Amino acid sequence: MQADYLDLAARIASLTDGEDDAVALMATVACELHHSDDRFDWTGFYRVVAPDLLKIGPYQGGHGCLVIPFDRGVCGACARTGEVQIVPDVDAFPGHIACASSTRSEIVLPVRDRRGALIAVLDIDSDRPDAFGETDAEALAAILSATLAR
Ligand code: SME
Repeated sequence: MQADYLDLAARIASLTDGEDDAVALMATVACELHHSDDRFDWTGFYRVVAPDLLKIGPYQGGHGCLVIPFDRGVCGACARTGEVQIVPDVDAFPGHIACASSTRSEIVLPVRDRRGALIAVLDIDSDRPDAFGETDAEALAAILSATLAR
């Protein structure tokens, strides 16, 4: 099944109502996103822990690499540019970091706090080629803003 983003946003809002702890919020978002859509084979956060370094945060799926410098991977490109990365074919992305050999496509979004500071990226991997598009990017960005920039 594919995510019903309006239903998903409402459920996450209800589950996180009154919560402001970033780890608790990320854990809830990762869990609810991951189990909402058959395309999502790895769903998780990489947190900004130093000026040019990401470190793994709450996630669902197989093990993910622990640290990613801003100059590597799809996650690094997102953190470096502040722009959403929609990757239809990870094998065509220079420097893609393959945490699972089954991954075919990926979407990575910047995660900002209420002051607009980059605090993490959200990474979703799919075993399906070209799994993500602008509709996913817009809906996921809205969920991230409502949950982590409150
Ligand atoms: N594919 C990501 C690395 C994270 S693993 O997929 C969980 C990247 O290229 O940055």
